[in-house]
Amino acid sequence: MTQAARLVLLAVLAALPVASARADATAQTVNPAGEKLYKSACVVCHASGVANAPKLGDRQVWAPYAARGADALLATVLTGKGAMPPRGGSSADEATLRAAVEYMLSSAR
Ligand code: HEC
Repeated sequence: MTQAARLVLLAVLAALPVASARADATAQTVNPAGEKLYKSACVVCHASGVANAPKLGDRQVWAPYAARGADALLATVLTGKGAMPPRGGSSADEATLRAAVEYMLSSAR
């Protein structure tokens, strides 16, 4: 093995535990209630884009929403907009609605 190859190998090995620690941290900050609420209350419109609802997982559609940020989106969801009833028609609390918004944002990242 050349010296350069050995250095590359060492660098990769050194980076591995850091990468997996980061993945763990991300997993812990995701609130699973968001996906659950999405699948029970939001999916009916947001899976297929009913009445121009931003479609889950469509990066191009979500880019301008992501730019406005989760706070602004949550405010809209709480009051409702266009064909979307307040709280997306659910009775979920604000924290769960925020988690659902974040789930939708992360689907298009
Ligand atoms: C009855 C269909 C329907 C349901 C159910 C629904 N939505 Fe929507 N949603 C829409 C439509 C339509 C829009 C686009 C509104 C517009 O811009 O006129 C929208 C827009 C949004 C937006 C963008 C808001 C903004 O600031 O422009 C978010 C975020 C969102 N919905 C989240 C949710 C979440 C979270 C749920 C479930 C708790 C949900 N929606 C349930 C139809 C729905």
